[in-house]
Amino acid sequence: MADRTIVVTGSASGIGAATRARLEAGGDTVIGVDLRDAEILCDLSTEAGRQQALADVREACGGTLDGLVTSAGLGPPIDSSLILEVNWFGTEVFLTGLRDELAASDGVAKVVAVSSNSTTSSPNTPDELVDALLALDGDTAKALLEPMAEFATQLAYAGSKTAVARLVRRQAPTPEWAGSGIRLNAVAPGATMTPLLQAGLDDETFGPAIKNFPVPTGGFGTPDQIAAWIEMMMSDDADFMAGSIVFIDGGTDAMVRADDWPRTYQM
Ligand SMILES: NC(=O)c1ccc[n+]([C@@H]2O[C@H](COP(=O)([O-])OP(=O)(O)OC[C@H]3O[C@@H](n4cnc5c(N)ncnc54)[C@H](O)[C@@H]3O)[C@@H](O)[C@H]2O)c1
Repeated sequence: MADRTIVVTGSASGIGAATRARLEAGGDTVIGVDLRDAEILCDLSTEAGRQQALADVREACGGTLDGLVTSAGLGPPIDSSLILEVNWFGTEVFLTGLRDELAASDGVAKVVAVSSNSTTSSPNTPDELVDALLALDGDTAKALLEPMAEFATQLAYAGSKTAVARLVRRQAPTPEWAGSGIRLNAVAPGATMTPLLQAGLDDETFGPAIKNFPVPTGGFGTPDQIAAWIEMMMSDDADFMAGSIVFIDGGTDAMVRADDWPRTYQM
């Protein structure tokens, strides 16, 4: 596990920063990608910013990567189009664009995408929205959200995180991923106390909804509680793990769909 080089997007804050701290404490070299306080400064909300970031990562890693964590993201009440750009397109570009570099690792490369338990606990996310995102059709996705008015931001969030989870499930078991020495998995956190969650709590529409959201254990998670799982999923102990979506959410997912699993394991 020594001398690994790992890319962490969203490394400047919250779950990404906590992950960075754990990986560096374990001896890894982290290439942070963020708007600020990172090795690679970029704006993942634009296509030009994403392509520049991808090129910069490729140059910084010299063609070989041992791991990737995609944590950059935005949440409600941010504009729905911006959420799609950062959470979906800003994740997809790394999850597909760095495959060759990950396959070139000497060891078993590890990738953890940060999805969300909104994938299963947020009802009525349109399949058409998720399908449009997976087809990289941003115009259709944005047009579907336009008539949703005040619900658009939450649907964009859940839709973007569902698309991330489906991409993980689809890619992970293929010869190009599991068969090429890359383990691709995701975490699905519940409400975790970070600046992203605080912005939601401070909003007069979303604040009460977040506070009233049922969490069987009570309370919010901490960034380090999520990072601890990511660290494990990036370790040698996770060599046999591929395509898993790990919910770390105080029991919300189990509560809202206890009997769904394993009959219909839907994201
Ligand atoms: N906090 C929660 O309750 C929660 C729950 C489930 C999932 N998540 C997910 O966890 C991930 C991390 O979120 P967090 O809660 O740690 O939030 P955070 O705000 O602390 O961190 C998000 C990071 O993403 C970066 N970022 C945002 N827009 C960017 C852009 N355009 N270009 C580059 N970087 C950008 C920010 O600068 C920040 O450093 C997100 O994908 C979020 O959706 C969070």
